[in-house]
Amino acid sequence: MKDGYWLVGFQYELTGYLYSLGRIPRCKSAMLKHLKPGDKVLVAGVGHGTEAIEASRLGADVTAVDLSETMLSHFRRRIEKEKPPKEIRVIHDDIFNIKDTGHYDMVIANFFLNVFSETRVVEVANHLGSLTKPDGYFVVGEFVLPVEKGWRGVLQKINWYLAISFYSATTEAVFHPVWNYPALVEGSGCKIEDIEYFKIFDTNLYWSILGKKTGR
Ligand SMILES: C[S@@+](CC[C@H](N)C(=O)[O-])C[C@H]1O[C@@H](n2cnc3c(N)ncnc32)[C@H](O)[C@@H]1O
Repeated sequence: MKDGYWLVGFQYELTGYLYSLGRIPRCKSAMLKHLKPGDKVLVAGVGHGTEAIEASRLGADVTAVDLSETMLSHFRRRIEKEKPPKEIRVIHDDIFNIKDTGHYDMVIANFFLNVFSETRVVEVANHLGSLTKPDGYFVVGEFVLPVEKGWRGVLQKINWYLAISFYSATTEAVFHPVWNYPALVEGSGCKIEDIEYFKIFDTNLYWSILGKKTGR
């Protein structure tokens, strides 16, 4: 299986923390407040697994999937060290091989949809929506759409293009503008219930989007 993060996977979590002055880890866990003990949670493209460990601490049954063995080795090390109370199911595979349709109370895609091309991202979002239970949640944590005017809009663009320039040069992530994540969540059959923003210099740079699966 191809490991797109073999070169830079080791620094991913720390760099994300430093780059965002702590906003990215907060963004990743923002919607866990909607979990109940015993809920089934799927974390797609789990990386080092900040929110997966936190969800386990909240009593959820967590399944975590990632294509990169490098990322998963860091995640497993964190599990060893932090000893979350419930066992986390770790799957080394492509998210499209997860076929538990309508199974999860919450499906989380943090900084995951941004690695895909314009056509692929729609397929991935729709697949994740299909894994979500009716009335379950589909959560996306991401870079905001750069819609602000003046210097704030420039800052939003710089924040995204610096990150994607680095990761498209060093991983399999595709270089592209910021996708419209609320539209992708809606398109997957979920209604947007909440959006929480994370700011630096009074400018929205990251958002956590909570979609609720409608019965369609
Ligand atoms: C940008 S990183 C984000 C990691 C983590 N969610 C975070 O926020 O720190 C994207 C992750 O998605 C994984 N990934 C990419 N394509 C995948 C696929 N088709 N199936 C499963 N994981 C995939 C990568 O290996 C990588 O760990």
